[in-house]
Amino acid sequence: MTELRVGIVGVGVMGADHAERIVRKTAGARLAAVSDADTGRAEALAGRLSERSTAGSASTARHSGGTAYAETVRVVEDPMELIAADDVDAVILASPGFAHADQLFACLEHGKPVLCEKPLTMDAASALRVVEAEHKLGRQLIQVGFMRRFDPEYAALKQLLDSGDLGRTLLLHNVHRNKSASPTFRSEMIVRDSMVHEVDVARWLFGEEITRITVHTPTPTSLVADGVLDPQLAVFELANGALADVEVFVNFQVGYEVRCEAVAERGSATIGLGSGVFTRAGQQWGGTMPADFRVRFEQAYDIEVQRWVDATVRGEIDGPSAWDGYAAAAVCEAGLESLGTGKPVDVALADRGEVLG
Ligand SMILES: NC(=O)c1ccc[n+]([C@@H]2O[C@H](COP(=O)([O-])OP(=O)(O)OC[C@H]3O[C@@H](n4cnc5c(N)ncnc54)[C@H](O)[C@@H]3O)[C@@H](O)[C@H]2O)c1
Repeated sequence: MTELRVGIVGVGVMGADHAERIVRKTAGARLAAVSDADTGRAEALAGRLSERSTAGSASTARHSGGTAYAETVRVVEDPMELIAADDVDAVILASPGFAHADQLFACLEHGKPVLCEKPLTMDAASALRVVEAEHKLGRQLIQVGFMRRFDPEYAALKQLLDSGDLGRTLLLHNVHRNKSASPTFRSEMIVRDSMVHEVDVARWLFGEEITRITVHTPTPTSLVADGVLDPQLAVFELANGALADVEVFVNFQVGYEVRCEAVAERGSATIGLGSGVFTRAGQQWGGTMPADFRVRFEQAYDIEVQRWVDATVRGEIDGPSAWDGYAAAAVCEAGLESLGTGKPVDVALADRGEVLG
């Protein structure tokens, strides 16, 4: 295979970002097709990419090894048709979570490797069906977009903890704040769409499953619609007895901030301090905060997509698996139950050995 022909389903915020990434930055891949429930949006993206082209309305020009060449980005109205298309070797799913299950089953049916943005699906039962369907195929085709695993700071933290230099890891403290969220971003979405990242981070850093979750809700900020529980403070209990806590605050007003401190037997390690360029000017000192996740995690997304392309060409995945997506869904489902009561809720997780044989 000379170049991996990638099709993207859903070209809103994340899908459009990945489209640019495939076209501008990813070696060994090209953007073959895009599809969106809003076909006009897909056409606009294809058009926008084409504007920089020398080769007409449906083409984009880019450089590879110093040679500029044109590529055609096809707009496909029906996402299922894109997934089945012969000129699409692999798929990035960046549609909303509720559309993932059907589109993942279609990818499996057509043998298409897929990088699926989190969440894998909306609930644990459907996520488990996806895991089982993939397992039946006998080949891992699904990678889940938990991109923090590819962030250089998180990767360095993981390496440090795994080295054992600090002894056993006992605790994780996480902070996850957004400048603001849309008024439609309800309390449940704070768990399923935001906290899910810390769920994956905790499982990954400890190498253990989360067995119980408690979601506490202090008096909400007055800057959100009535009924939205923001911020939230959750505690995860891990199978080895370790604990992780996370504050998720999606209407923090200031900027995007993600921090993680691991506390171990002989020391602690913190990432996400944002200690970039420190300036003194205009009677102020300090640095800047990223406006959103696309800025803070740009490198993580770049590395994630490049490694996914490279692994796909080898017939492998190189990152969080369908099981990881399922386990995160199971924790979030328990988290949603706890959100209603403030009480600890046990995570109902299938037996990995039984499911994966
Ligand atoms: N990894 C991350 O850090 C990260 C960050 C943001 C979003 N996400 C995930 O990416 C996905 C997309 O989020 P977003 O913020 O880009 O949302 P968005 O609303 O900006 O974009 C979603 C797009 O999908 C389209 N769409 C709706 N239903 C569809 C369907 N059935 N088939 C195809 N397209 C459909 C919409 O028209 C829209 O253009 C979600 O799963 C979200 O959780 C991940």
